[in-house]
Amino acid sequence: MEHFDKWQEYWDCYLLNKYGKPEVETEADLYFQVARTIHKKPIDKPIFDHIIDEMKTGLSLEPQDTLVDLCCGNGLFTFELRQAVSRIIGVDFAPQIVHTAHDFKSADNILYHLGDVINFLKDFKSHYPEVSPNKYIINDSLAYFSVEELEQMLAHIVAISGNNFHFLIRGVPNALLMWNYYNTEERKAKYLADKAKGDYSNDGLGRWWLPQEIENACNTMNLKYLIHNQDETLSNYRMDVLISAI
Ligand SMILES: C[S@@+](CC[C@H](N)C(=O)[O-])C[C@H]1O[C@@H](n2cnc3c(N)ncnc32)[C@H](O)[C@@H]1O
Repeated sequence: MEHFDKWQEYWDCYLLNKYGKPEVETEADLYFQVARTIHKKPIDKPIFDHIIDEMKTGLSLEPQDTLVDLCCGNGLFTFELRQAVSRIIGVDFAPQIVHTAHDFKSADNILYHLGDVINFLKDFKSHYPEVSPNKYIINDSLAYFSVEELEQMLAHIVAISGNNFHFLIRGVPNALLMWNYYNTEERKAKYLADKAKGDYSNDGLGRWWLPQEIENACNTMNLKYLIHNQDETLSNYRMDVLISAI
């Protein structure tokens, strides 16, 4: 199976390997640590605000909601959502990154959990018996999972929340749009050469998903879905998906 299996190490050491920085010191470093950059600079504030707005409206966040932020990274986005909901649990498996979230993006109603998303969801009820999440988000991170893992994620979410949930999957690399990304002969050649030598990390971008793969996973679980490509101010190769039971 075409799969890169070292994402935990990849993300935990990303800041060091890419920028030579052992730890986050500045607000800009927070963006570098989780690759929230465009042309090697932190994404602009208007774009950042636009993403936050899309998260809030996409999930119709309400003050009484309990939100789970899967692959929350260092809390860059998690923190901005804190006032829109009652409580947030963020989960990420990179120790350095979760450590940064604690140091820089803590709030009374945010809890950061160090762990793998699938195991976290599987054991959710034993870890948090008193918590009933009704909203879930995963931002720019489905690319680090396989189809089977998406199916597991959905099954665990249904087990936790029954019919009462909305799950927003943002920023999935859309395989039907991949040539918008590999849009020069050089980029295309590098992509094909990496694949030929068995490197499926796609330079950190992760797995390209066919919309049909997400549709199939939802259909198997009898879930409703809405898939649309992101608007071009954000990206011309990523799609967003809203999943719900009702
Ligand atoms: C591109 S970053 C995005 C972080 C955050 N969602 C954001 O938008 O800023 C990807 C994150 O996914 C996390 N991640 C990838 N696979 C994971 C898994 N199986 N379980 C938990 N975290 C995972 C990485 O550690 C990393 O922090």
